[in-house]
Amino acid sequence: MHDISLDHYLVVGNPIAHSKSPLIHTEFAKQTQQAIHYEALLIDTSSGAFATAVNAFRANGGKGLNVTVPFKQAAWEFVQHRSERAKRAGAVNTIGFNQQGESWGDNTDGVGLVRDLTQNQGKSLTGQRILLLGAGGAVRGVLEPILAEKPASCVIANRTLEKAQVLVSLFAEIEPLSACTYDALAGQQFDIIINGTSASLQGELPPLPDNIIPAKRGWCYDMMYAATRTPFVQWALEHGAICARDGLGMLVEQAAESFYLWRGVRPKTEPVIEHLRYLLQ
Ligand code: ATR
Repeated sequence: MHDISLDHYLVVGNPIAHSKSPLIHTEFAKQTQQAIHYEALLIDTSSGAFATAVNAFRANGGKGLNVTVPFKQAAWEFVQHRSERAKRAGAVNTIGFNQQGESWGDNTDGVGLVRDLTQNQGKSLTGQRILLLGAGGAVRGVLEPILAEKPASCVIANRTLEKAQVLVSLFAEIEPLSACTYDALAGQQFDIIINGTSASLQGELPPLPDNIIPAKRGWCYDMMYAATRTPFVQWALEHGAICARDGLGMLVEQAAESFYLWRGVRPKTEPVIEHLRYLLQ
C-alpha cells in the first residue's frame, strides 16, 4: 500500500535485486530530510513491458524513476522530452514527470563519472590524454561530459573497431576524439585510462598490449566496481598507475544528480560512498 505522505520513486531493470539505488536514495533522503520512498522493481524484458510499467507507476502518482540495464534505450524512446546529454548518450537513466504529467528523460552517468574523478578524487580531465576502453552503451553514455572537460585528446579503443568509429562520428565536430583497436595502443602513453567495457563482469580484462603504459603519475578508472579489486584495477596497479579506482563513486554521483533533478537538493555523496564501500567488504 502506498504511503501518500511520501513521494514515490523506483529503480527499474532486469535483473534488479542487486541494485544499490534504493539504499543510496534512502540515505540521500534522510540526509536532506526529503519525504520520499524509493524501491526497486523488476520489469519483464518482453516488448512493451517497460512502457506499461512506467505508465502504471505514473498513473499511481509516482514521481520519478531510475532506469538500468537493459532498459536505458527503451527509456530514451519512452520519454516525451530529452535533455541534450540524454540525446547524445542515446540512453536515459533518469525519468521524471513535469506539471502537465509529461515525461522527461536525462542521463546522469557521465556527470557521475566526471564528478567522481574531478571533485571526489581531485583529478582534472582538462588537457589530459584520455583513453576510453570499450564502445558500448556505457562509454557512449559518458562521452559528452568527458569531452566537455576539454581533454587534450580522447581515444576510444574497442575490439570491434566499427563500434568505436560510430561513437567518434556522433561527436564528429569535437576535434581530439579518435578510434582504434587494442593492438594500435602498443607503446602509447595516456594520462587517464577509463575502462568502460563489460569485460570485468566476466572477470576478464580488455586485450591491452603489454607495453601500453599509464603515463608517469597516470590514473586508471574502472566504471565497474567490486568488493575486491576489479581485474582492470589490478592491471593498472601492476602497470605503474599512480592511482586506480573503481566505479563505486560514479554510481553514487550519478544517483546524486538524479536526486537533484527530482528534488532540487544536492545530497552529500562522500558519506554514502564510504558507507557502500563498508557494506561491500
Ligand atoms: P554496455 O552497455 O555495458 O557498454 P555493450 O553495449 O554490450 O554493453 O558493450 C560492451 C562493451 O564491452 C563493448 O565495447 C565490448 O566490445 P565489442 O564491441 O568489441 O564486443 C566490450 N567487451 C565486452 N567484453 C570484453 C572483453 N572480454 N574484452 C574486451 N572488450 C570487451
